[in-house]
Amino acid sequence: MREIYSPQQIAEAVRVLAKSIAADYRGKPLILLGVLKGALYLTVDLARALSAIPDGPSDIVMDFVSVTSYGNETDSSGNIRLLMDATVPVAGRNVLVVDGIADRGITLHALRALLQERAPESLRTAVLFDKLGRRSVDLAADYVGLPLPNAFVVGYGLDYQENYRTLPYLAEL
Ligand code: IMP
Ligand code: MG
Repeated sequence: MREIYSPQQIAEAVRVLAKSIAADYRGKPLILLGVLKGALYLTVDLARALSAIPDGPSDIVMDFVSVTSYGNETDSSGNIRLLMDATVPVAGRNVLVVDGIADRGITLHALRALLQERAPESLRTAVLFDKLGRRSVDLAADYVGLPLPNAFVVGYGLDYQENYRTLPYLAEL
């Protein structure tokens, strides 16, 4: 497997993401809503980085949703299924949906629509890795860490059939 981003490059990208997020939510409460399982590492690392910034959000709540998309192993189909919903109410709150990667954009597009119906105060999306050339729906994440070529990648929370998720670096399968 070919390494695309090292653990150091990933850590630096998370720090940069956290800085811009912190600046936008200064003094405001924030819900980090991680998309399982791919955003596990990112959500935790982002929460740590945000907490270390003194003039960031006033408080941070972490919550998760679990989503699966039908399709074959390396491509999504256009449908998502919510396996587990958020546990905290999002009405009137600032919600930042955190996903490890945006590919066709279907997952974040569908989640945005679902959460928007619940009338949050604000709703934004953050991804660490973005395959911008692969979109099949109109979805631009508000915070983007690192660009990716059109390749299937694993590591830092991202899997291929539940394998390679715990790699500390990002690799092309
Ligand atoms: P999208 O809905 O096509 O944007 O795909 C987003 C979801 O598909 C992510 O949350 C991942 O779970 C998965 N995914 C997309 N591309 C990759 C990849 O290169 N490696 C691992 N998982 C991926
Ligand atoms: Mg997966």
